[in-house]
Amino acid sequence: MKKLQYERPVIQFLNTGVINKYGTRTEYLPLTHIDGVSVKSLVNNFGSPLFALSEKKIRSTFRDANRSFKTRYPRVQFAWSYKTNYLNAVCKIYHQEGSWAEVVSGFEYNKALKNGVAPDKIIFNGPDKTVEDLKLAIMNKSPLHIDHLDELYMIQEIAEELNMRPSVAIRVNMDTGIYPMWDRFGFNYENGQAWDAINKIMLNDKLELTGLHCHIGTFMLAPGAYGIAAAKLSDLALNVKKKFRKNIQYIDMGGGFASKNTLKGSYLLGEDTSPTIDMFAEAICTSLLNAGFVDDELPLLILETGRALIDEAGFLIGTVIANKRLSDGRRATIMDFGVNILFTSFWYDHKVSPAQEFSHFTENTVLYGPLCMNIDVIRENVTLPPLKKNDNVVVHFVGAYNMTQWMQFIAMRPAVVLIDNNDIPHLIKKRETIESVEADEIVPGYLKNFD
Ligand SMILES: Cc1ncc(COP(=O)(O)O)c(C=O)c1O
Repeated sequence: MKKLQYERPVIQFLNTGVINKYGTRTEYLPLTHIDGVSVKSLVNNFGSPLFALSEKKIRSTFRDANRSFKTRYPRVQFAWSYKTNYLNAVCKIYHQEGSWAEVVSGFEYNKALKNGVAPDKIIFNGPDKTVEDLKLAIMNKSPLHIDHLDELYMIQEIAEELNMRPSVAIRVNMDTGIYPMWDRFGFNYENGQAWDAINKIMLNDKLELTGLHCHIGTFMLAPGAYGIAAAKLSDLALNVKKKFRKNIQYIDMGGGFASKNTLKGSYLLGEDTSPTIDMFAEAICTSLLNAGFVDDELPLLILETGRALIDEAGFLIGTVIANKRLSDGRRATIMDFGVNILFTSFWYDHKVSPAQEFSHFTENTVLYGPLCMNIDVIRENVTLPPLKKNDNVVVHFVGAYNMTQWMQFIAMRPAVVLIDNNDIPHLIKKRETIESVEADEIVPGYLKNFD
């Protein structure tokens, strides 16, 4: 006869349905299906842990965001921020929806080329473009966003050597009322650095200044800051026009809109407090429209939004390895996924849902990953029903940055599936194997055998 599981009883306050002491809801509904596909079947077919992406959600979020901007401003272009999630299947969905590519390294640049993006629609950002990267991008006529003076001089030299006149923008950092200020990238607006860079480009005449760019921060919760940034870039553009009789063709507002995740330390849930894309669109578009551009010279508005477009489309499915009580009596549950593949758990209190029915008894739980490392904590304190070994959970809003920043550390990186518009899951990245991990390792001959 199978032995029934016994867990030592504890006495604690019941916490059902009402707001808990952190002011957050405790209603955890099971998430048994993602886009009509059962979580259990995904685990059975693709293993655990497993990332699942909803194509429906990717497309609908993109279309909503595109509509938010296009109904407010006549010329809008999104450029998919590759670093947010550069799985090729994901990038291709955004490109199919009309997105350009925004890349920050030679690796990402080549990925965008391989994905079939027209080179003049690949925006090349980032402080580390090598001579080879720049040569390729200049030959391809891709827009280069200059980060620092050394890069400006390097581009001028290469342009001369290749006898080309590359299209460039400068990245501008500025005070938007959000502190600490993001001033490590680009040229500062307030202290005149941005104007120095513009003068160098315009007076030297080897480069074509086509755009102005900024990326004012990350997980921004204040739409008004974008209004200020758009006004400052517009001011530069209008003064370039006045001084050099030259139209700036585009203003690129970068990314940084908050997703629906909950930042660590935040009292209320991100789902309830993050600004909507409409609010960011309103701030940016109003600012551009009011800046004083002549109607037919309004610059193209480029957006490099990453996390706000894809976070909600991503789920991480995992399995309970074990339960234990910590020395102070707290419940601890160990999952088969940790911070190695859920990098964003360092910044967010991710919402976690059980993937099967449960009783409405809940308990504050520490959720650990499987790594033999003290830092491997997914949630320091989450209200969950008691989960049993082999139960499944689903972590929400994990589409951004996890599938690019994940580490091959102690365990293999998991597979990724894309659930298409007809609710059919497709494997878009295989689970790592010892062979794939060791593929690039070389053991010197004298170490091959040992007695
Ligand atoms: C230049 C640039 N553009 C766009 C993004 C995307 O930002 P987010 O995912 O916060 O929208 C980043 C992210 O760091 C960035 O550095």
